[in-house]
Parts: sequence; structure tokens; C-alpha cells
Amino acid sequence: MASVSEDEAMRRAIALAARGLGATSPNPVVGCVLLDADGEVVGEGFHAYAGGPHAEIVALAQAGRRARGGTAVVTLEPCDHTGRTGPCSHALIAAGVARVVVAVPDPNPVASGGAATLRAAGVQVDLGVRGDEAEAGNIAWLTSMRRGWPYLIWKYAATLDGRSAAADGTSMWITSEAARIDVHALRGTVDAVIAGVGTVLADDPRLTARNLRDGTLAIRQPLRVVVDSSGRTPTQARVRDGAARTWVATAAEVGAGPDGRVDLAALLAELHHRGVRAALLEGGPTLAGAFLAAGLVDRIVGYVAPKLLGAGPTALLDAGVTTIADAIDLELTDVTQVGPDLRITALPRKREA
Ligand SMILES: NC(=O)c1ccc[n+]([C@@H]2O[C@H](COP(=O)([O-])OP(=O)(O)OC[C@H]3O[C@@H](n4cnc5c(N)ncnc54)[C@H](OP(=O)(O)O)[C@@H]3O)[C@@H](O)[C@H]2O)c1
Repeated sequence: MASVSEDEAMRRAIALAARGLGATSPNPVVGCVLLDADGEVVGEGFHAYAGGPHAEIVALAQAGRRARGGTAVVTLEPCDHTGRTGPCSHALIAAGVARVVVAVPDPNPVASGGAATLRAAGVQVDLGVRGDEAEAGNIAWLTSMRRGWPYLIWKYAATLDGRSAAADGTSMWITSEAARIDVHALRGTVDAVIAGVGTVLADDPRLTARNLRDGTLAIRQPLRVVVDSSGRTPTQARVRDGAARTWVATAAEVGAGPDGRVDLAALLAELHHRGVRAALLEGGPTLAGAFLAAGLVDRIVGYVAPKLLGAGPTALLDAGVTTIADAIDLELTDVTQVGPDLRITALPRKREA
């Protein structure tokens, strides 16, 4: 069982891990706090970018000799393999750490086994401390590693009566600048942004993560994915502007479903293969309906503006629901006011097979 100081250190390690969100893919976010034998904090670190030092290594470097006989408190089981960096399990053993407290076991078969290696070397290992909290902070990576396709967030903007555009097709802007700034921050936390060719043809979006006030691009850009069965994306479309990588995913390349359109499950599997762990589905209503109908959406983030249109396209089209008993049930997890708008976060409840 974790001591009070270890529990407090895990809280801190989870907060440290969150600093890496959006920058570590295809690796997880990880935080680590090192306590000396008296329970004093002597080092801390987090994994800041893929290929960079792991959280444990940063914390060990800070602690130096004071790590000997101490405790490493880590949000994820220390890795046990040599990738771009060496195994953290070995580094902890070499530093003389006596105990390792872990929140979540590593589901990645390539890197797991750190706990067993540590125990074999006589290091005491405690697994599961603040596990739910650490799991929530790393949900996209953990989910995608366990099942082999990315964690998918569907984001949309709508009026209070659920419209995504007016009757004449105008939609800029439904939501406030504050909400759109929030969306750009969300784009900065994912590895890919997905839109259907319908949205590209209608709105010609850039789909980059940028500062809305001055247009400067974020350092790290998500992969832009256009789901385009027959390759209708114009050569001059803004998504092809070179500001970020773009993949126009056609049925010929990905595979087709029974309707001849891009097979969405195969698309997500290919994105996972390309290192995408979290993806943001940004539209539009046809593609969102198809992803929801296939049960491939993990989280919904809706920006709802205090406006009414009364006519015009809705934010969601056919999602495979024809009768009220089949409505896609959601669990609300957060409601936050962003400027004048509401940001509503919800999780689809798993349906009975
Ligand atoms: N309010 C919002 O949050 C929001 C966000 C985005 C867009 N929009 C609005 O949505 C409108 C565009 O709507 P839309 O429905 O045409 O756009 P969309 O959902 O982005 O694109 C639909 C197209 O995706 C392609 N697609 C490829 N594989 C598919 C599959 N398996 N299932 C379904 N579709 C597949 C289809 O064209 P192919 O068969 O040719 O591949 C389909 O016509 C625009 O007016 C835009 O302003 C609103």
C-alpha cells in the first residue's frame, strides 16, 4: 500500500504527465516523482516528446545519489525495452531505487515487463496507486494500445437547435472566437484531424492547429486526414497547402465498406499503424453519423452556441438510429462555458451486442 507521501507524489506525477499531452505520440504521457528514503521529493520529470528522455530518467538525473534507497513514483509501469532510449527498469535498478510505485501497468507488449524485471532485482513494486486518475490522464494512448486503433473524439459546433449552418449554407461563425480558440487547443492535443471530403468541398478548411489571433502555426501539427472515397479533394484545397502533413484517404488505398465508401475501421487501423493514438473527427454530419453508427467514437465534444436558426443542416446525419429505443445514449462528463458558448463533453455508452 502507498504511504501518504507516495500518494501525494502520485498526484504530482499525474499532473506532470499531463504537460506532455499532444507531444509524446506515439508514446504515452508519463510523469515521475522520486522520493528519498525519508519520503522527501528529490527529483521529478515527465516525458516531453517522443524520442526524448523518459520521465524516470529525468527524475533520476535530478535526484543523483539521493535516489539510492528511495522510491520512484511513476504514472505508467517503467519500460523494459530498448527503443530510442534504454530500459527505465534497468536505470532504476542501477540507481539503487528500493521501491517503485506505479499507477497503471503498461499494455504495450513491446515495452511491458518492467515490474517483473524490478521485482526480480529485489525492488519492491506496488501497482495500481491512483490508477483510475492516471488512466484518465492517458486515456487516448492506453485505449489505442489495448485495442489497436486510435481514440476518436468527435467535435462539432451547433446552435441551440442543433443546426450546423443556416438555410443558405452560411456557417461562419456559429460559435464565438473563444470556442474556436478552444478547438485549436484541442487540435494541439491530438495526432490527427479527420474531415470528410464534403466539408473540404463546402468550407475549404485548413485543419491546422494555430493561433487564431495572428495565424501562427503551432510547432506540432496533427496529420490532416480527408476521408474521400473517390479522390475528389481539389488539388488547390487548403488542406494540401503544405502547412502540415495531409493524407487524402481513398477507398482504393484503405479499402471500401459495403456502400463503396472508405472502410472506417480499416482507416482507423491504418492511422494506428502510422502512429496516431488520438484523433479528432471534425466533420461533417455525414461522416460523423457513419463513425457513430459503426461505434467508433470514444468521446464527443459539442460546442453549443446560444443561437437559433430554425432551418438549415443539422450537426449530425444518419447515425443508424431509426427508433427512439436505439438512440445513442451518452454519459455527460463535463459542461463548461467557453465565452458565450457551452462546451459539452460526453461519452457514448457501450451498446449491448
Ligand atoms: N458544425 C460543424 O461542426 C461542422 C463541422 C464540419 C462540417 N460542417 C458542415 O458540414 C457540411 C458538409 O457536410 P457533409 O456531410 O457533406 O460533410 P462530411 O461528412 O465532412 O463529408 C461527407 C463525405 O465523406 C465521404 N465519405 C467517405 N467515406 C465515408 C463513409 N464511410 N461514410 C460516410 N461518408 C464517407 C463521402 O463522400 P465520398 O463518398 O465521395 O467519399 C461523404 O459524402 C458543410 O456545410 C460544413 O460546413 C459542420
